[in-house]
Amino acid sequence: MLLKQAKEDIEYILVNEQEIENRIKEIADELNAYYKDEEVIAVCILKGSVPFYWDLIKRLSFPVKFDFMCVSSYGASTVSTGEIKILKDLVVDIKGKNVLVVEDILDSGNTLYSLKKIFSERSPKDVKICTLLDKPDRRVKDIEADFLGFKIEDKFVVGYGLDYDEKYRQLPYIGVLKESVYTK
Ligand code: IMP
Ligand code: MG
Repeated sequence: MLLKQAKEDIEYILVNEQEIENRIKEIADELNAYYKDEEVIAVCILKGSVPFYWDLIKRLSFPVKFDFMCVSSYGASTVSTGEIKILKDLVVDIKGKNVLVVEDILDSGNTLYSLKKIFSERSPKDVKICTLLDKPDRRVKDIEADFLGFKIEDKFVVGYGLDYDEKYRQLPYIGVLKESVYTK
């Protein structure tokens, strides 16, 4: 898909580049105050969190180890049980470590609820969740972000890593996708 066409599919820009940058600086300040000089394993949840992960991590002043995890929710055609499937697991051992899960968006909460459970079973010192966006209206699981960028209304958003059908991830801002794109 041409980038020009991708831009035309955006109804309006919800969070622009400058607003993203400003908010990430504030989240980084909160994280720096919380972790001080402790080492943290920062887990990027692929693929949507990639832009957020790097823009956040470069502003952290404590030692960070990188790791990456890729999960999918169980099939769209079957009834969702809220379970997730691990497509790519961590490489590092998180036992006794501080784990910071970096995710793009907290929606139903199924993904982060399951991830937090999986990580907690590996005996880390601490597990905290940092998400750029939160759609609280859609929550079905009892889970909240410890560090959060923006609470947003229940609209389907794309850009800055977020996709619809693997498209729009490269847009530098977060935009509301035109309904006509996914209803046609
Ligand atoms: P949850 O498990 O329902 O909380 O959903 C989390 C995942 O759903 C995110 O990692 C996204 O991949 C996807 N998701 C939820 N809402 C949106 C959205 O508005 N735009 C793009 N992806 C979304
Ligand atoms: Mg995702």
